[in-house]
Amino acid sequence: MSRLDFDFYESEDPVWNPALLTIPVPGIRKMVNLASTMDDVIHLSIGQPDAPAPPHVIQATVDALEAGQTGYTMDAGLPELLEALAEYNGERYGRAISPENILVTTGATEAIYLALTAVSAPGREFIVPDPAFMLYAPLIRMNGGEVRYIPTRAENNHQLDPQEVIDAIDTNTHAIILNSPSNPTGTVYPRETVEMIVQEAAYRGIYVISDEVYDHLVYDRDYAGVLSCCSDLDHVMIISSFSKTFSMAGMRIGWLIASQGAIRKLRRYHMFTTTVANTPCQWAGVAALRGDRSFIRDIISTYKARRDRLVQLVEQTPFLEGYVPDGAFYLFPALPEGVNGNNVALRLLRETGVCTIAGDTFGESCRNALRISYATSIDQIERAFERIIPWMEKQDFG
Ligand SMILES: Cc1ncc(COP(=O)(O)O)c(C=O)c1O
Repeated sequence: MSRLDFDFYESEDPVWNPALLTIPVPGIRKMVNLASTMDDVIHLSIGQPDAPAPPHVIQATVDALEAGQTGYTMDAGLPELLEALAEYNGERYGRAISPENILVTTGATEAIYLALTAVSAPGREFIVPDPAFMLYAPLIRMNGGEVRYIPTRAENNHQLDPQEVIDAIDTNTHAIILNSPSNPTGTVYPRETVEMIVQEAAYRGIYVISDEVYDHLVYDRDYAGVLSCCSDLDHVMIISSFSKTFSMAGMRIGWLIASQGAIRKLRRYHMFTTTVANTPCQWAGVAALRGDRSFIRDIISTYKARRDRLVQLVEQTPFLEGYVPDGAFYLFPALPEGVNGNNVALRLLRETGVCTIAGDTFGESCRNALRISYATSIDQIERAFERIIPWMEKQDFG
């Protein structure tokens, strides 16, 4: 354990800004670090596609480097990429937007960081589904904002009740965070849910900050992106990236769409954080959007087949309550009420060599859950459950 260096994250040494204490020990790192010390681990923990970026995207990066594209771009992003993003998002969501509505960032992560830390402040409350991607709550709290969690449940496919969200809005509410398809649940919100929340938020003058990095990974369902549900951009920030759809996670290119006024503010902030996103990889983004995108159909059918097999296997596993997730590449099954998912994930890893992520990494109301990723082959998923099922059969969670 000593070489895992957890103390670094938990240090209360006065040299550090106390705000850093809002950043938890990352549950994912903890498991993946432990797994790296073991042999024969099967990972159901991975949060990125298992295939590399398409060849034409890789070639565009090489071409950009060879053409000497190694300097800074304009602060909002490479003009060619801003144009391509405006056209792509405009076509996909049926709303005309201009390059001035877009900021290119270092992955969706920088866009989330900019959006949340630019608007969070003491006395402001943010509505966040629970469970949710682990960046949101710490970034809100780091700047003094408060998180109002809306719990969702496996028995309800982790759907968000829009009325519950609306009822949670009070005078301090500053923004609502949405993430559909969701990490960690794979849940896709129906159009009625997104429309109801976005319209009510605009009416009350609060922001909807929507993380849509899995927007293409949706199986047999309509996808309601916020851009297709809002009447104007005055109260929305939409965040996405090339990481998941185009297998470009390591190339670190994302974007944020908002009103031109909001983009002007965030551009300044962006200059003081990362200056600009990686130049050759912005050219790769242009190639990804302008080039052949037919491979996306194939990855959707690959993920869907994996999802279907995983759902069957979870159904056959004692103590796990699953459901059918409609998007991304995660399932977030529940263990019986009161069972500590953290202990189960650790024991599963130590005793069977299968690495999953404990539910408490993603919020407060899901300590009895596990996140299972299917960004891996059906063969690996089946091998993992050949270990998980007999292990679960031996447990006594009563
Ligand atoms: C919901 C969600 N948002 C954002 C990100 C980060 O994306 P990026 O690689 O573009 O920074 C991830 C990565 O796992 C994610 O799951």
